[in-house]
Amino acid sequence: MRYVLALDQGTTSSRAIVFDAAGQVVTLAQREFAQIFPQPGWVEHDAREIWATQHAVALEAIEKAGGAATIAAIGITNQRETTLLWDRATGEPVANAIVWQDRRTATRCDELRARGHAARVQQKTGLVIDAYFAGTKLEWLLDNVPGARARAEAGELAFGTIDSWLVWKLTGGRVHATDASNASRTMLFNLRTGAWDDELLKLLRVPRAVLPEVVASSGLVATTDATVLGTELPIAGIAGDQQAATFGQTCWSPGMAKNTYGTGCFMLMNTGGQRVTSRNRLLTTVGWRGPDGPTNLAYCLEGSVFMAGATVQWLRDGLQLIQSAPEVESLAAQVEDTGDVYLVPAFAGLGTPDWDGHARGTLVGMTRGTSRAHIARAALEAIALQSADVFAAMSRDAGIPLTELRVDGGASRNNLLMQMQADFLGVPVVRPQVTETTALGAAYLAGLATGFWADPAEIGRQWKVDRRFEPRLSERERVAKLARWREAVERAKGWTR
Ligand code: G3P
Repeated sequence: MRYVLALDQGTTSSRAIVFDAAGQVVTLAQREFAQIFPQPGWVEHDAREIWATQHAVALEAIEKAGGAATIAAIGITNQRETTLLWDRATGEPVANAIVWQDRRTATRCDELRARGHAARVQQKTGLVIDAYFAGTKLEWLLDNVPGARARAEAGELAFGTIDSWLVWKLTGGRVHATDASNASRTMLFNLRTGAWDDELLKLLRVPRAVLPEVVASSGLVATTDATVLGTELPIAGIAGDQQAATFGQTCWSPGMAKNTYGTGCFMLMNTGGQRVTSRNRLLTTVGWRGPDGPTNLAYCLEGSVFMAGATVQWLRDGLQLIQSAPEVESLAAQVEDTGDVYLVPAFAGLGTPDWDGHARGTLVGMTRGTSRAHIARAALEAIALQSADVFAAMSRDAGIPLTELRVDGGASRNNLLMQMQADFLGVPVVRPQVTETTALGAAYLAGLATGFWADPAEIGRQWKVDRRFEPRLSERERVAKLARWREAVERAKGWTR
């Protein structure tokens, strides 16, 4: 058995990647699936389509790699927080999944904050109270799907984030599990005990009977049902996509940080065994859980940007300004600057550091001279500027200035964007050779658990630099740019309040 298979179930596509022992991509299969926008601010996925696309790409990648006999283990990684409730008897979802970008519970979150729960929730879960997390989405499903609450209390329904759903489907409904990194995004999970928390379950009115078992991120979870992939294969790694990317970037020591440019942009810094409480509105989250019991946790600080690649997707599908996502780079390069135009892509509210579920997208500063190219450039800048805000918060929390940033994900291939990022951070941005870091991290977690790789030192040697982007702006220019951006952000806030 020469390979490890990573299933990477993202927000806009399902991917399956086969890696060899050198950590190189052997085969890759990918399918996009439908984004459902039933109302302004709502985002849903059909979980059956998620499974159908994930299953199809898994079969395709395995076949291209030479068949299931070549696969030693499976690692799962997934869009986090996206919330699903399904019937344990039939395996059918009771409603569409509510996606992490969905803001329908923003007012419920306002109410929880107004009732004074923020400090306690942060202390227990490491999270700010926000519609982003699974907790209020699950509460919404229980309250709004006819009969769901009673059926959940009777033990007939199962809740899961997408990792749980995939494990359930891969095992033919035998195993209902989630790993600690995904659990830490629910607002129901206690970071200190490494377990579901009764006080939080009561606060969000969630019956224990719906919850999955919390398992290690690296360890044998289950074997797949033989009918699903043609043979029984061990599922030996699970992690939320951002945590998996942190692992794949080999950010294993405290102080090491990465930023992933996917649908959103997520910066995570390893804090080791320390649960650092943020003073700058970052999240404290589980990085991964090791095999030695529920409290064998590595923690991270995280800054979450909700719209990154999704902003480019909106230029393509919503505005039809470009025909394909990579086109944004050449279009943006047609102009020297944005002409003082700013796009604040608060389409799904604002995450770190503003945490405003009522903010909405804003385009400011346009004149008669504003062209498509200016808007494309403003969109790219917005991705980098949001990450610069997060980076500033992270440096303040870390107490020491961060000296460089590792990057990965699809849009990290965009050189113009990476140069902007280095310029706005004022520190070098470092891109590794393998930018499929999310899937690679899931493969590493599974491969370490099954002895495919002997130890972390073996895979640590696989991380290699592709390119370093050095900052080019003067400090004065950089500070002025960030200040102007903050003015634009202020205009996007509170729109639906
Ligand atoms: O928290 C949401 C995150 O997990 C989504 O990741 O890769 O789809 O941007 P991505």
